[in-house]
Amino acid sequence: MAAHTPVLLEEVLAGLAIQADGRYCDGTFGRGGHTAAILAALGPLGRVVAIDKDPDAIAAGRARFADEPRLTLVRGSFAQLKQLLRAAGLEGQLHGVLLDLGVSSPQFDEARRGFSFMQDGPLDMRMDNESGQSAAQWLARASEREIADVLFKLGEEKFSRRIARSIVAAGTASPVASTRQLAEIVADAVPTREPGKHPATRTFQAIRMHVNGELDAVAAALPQAVELLAPGGRLCVISFHSLEDRLVKRYLRREVQGDPIYAELPVVPPHARPRLRLVGGATLPDAEEVERNVRARSAVLRIAERLAA
Ligand SMILES: C[S@@+](CC[C@H](N)C(=O)[O-])C[C@H]1O[C@@H](n2cnc3c(N)ncnc32)[C@H](O)[C@@H]1O
Repeated sequence: MAAHTPVLLEEVLAGLAIQADGRYCDGTFGRGGHTAAILAALGPLGRVVAIDKDPDAIAAGRARFADEPRLTLVRGSFAQLKQLLRAAGLEGQLHGVLLDLGVSSPQFDEARRGFSFMQDGPLDMRMDNESGQSAAQWLARASEREIADVLFKLGEEKFSRRIARSIVAAGTASPVASTRQLAEIVADAVPTREPGKHPATRTFQAIRMHVNGELDAVAAALPQAVELLAPGGRLCVISFHSLEDRLVKRYLRREVQGDPIYAELPVVPPHARPRLRLVGGATLPDAEEVERNVRARSAVLRIAERLAA
């Protein structure tokens, strides 16, 4: 079975400040690396609800944790965190929520999922490959302008217009349907090379983030996670992309400061008070972890604690 090495594992366990009989939510189950470590730290009364939108992740999790009564596996998007936890009977008073964003190794490594330019496969890129539009369907429908905007904003791709023009031109003959085809179109359109980086890296990342609505899902999940936490409960978020980390950092800062309208007023109503305190700053993997697991290299962990309302 394809594996995924959990990133910043010790740091996440410390960040969640696991209590033996606590209730935790792993919003990005993947292959269960973090979930397994949380379960190992829990006693018999502890519980974990683990969520993933990828049917392969849930199927692998059901097989691996078939004999684990403390775990509830839920297929769905963390953008609906509150609803999913309500359905799992764990709506209130969580002791910790983890979001380990981005793509799992099996998603990248399995050609049929269409995430990778390293091997040929259908141009899919959906984390939930049973709903929504695939990357190929989106590219076939999107205008040149729309494609260029996505590449520029989500991929920070400076050749976004050229690449978009080439994709649309190639698609007029027959739709761009495979990862290799897209990788070749991009490689031909990009005039320069960055050392150690495939020229299609930014394009694939941007299209993946767009097709999966990744930033919107994170923005939707963060306030729900805070509402679900009991006072003292911890939120841990691992980002792999600068835009994602910026979104997380700004959100946490707002919750730490409270509503600025009431700043310096003697009485601040409960809804405007700070709901979080930061636990340390950004945590990055050390050199040894990056050496061991190259996919950890862009990871940034941020930790916050829920304050009493
Ligand atoms: C980096 S992997 C998590 C790996 C996991 N922590 C482990 O140790 O195995 C991210 C996972 O989040 C899932 N995911 C991404 N966006 C999601 C969303 N909006 N809702 C639920 N799951 C999502 C992906 O399908 C993927 O399996």
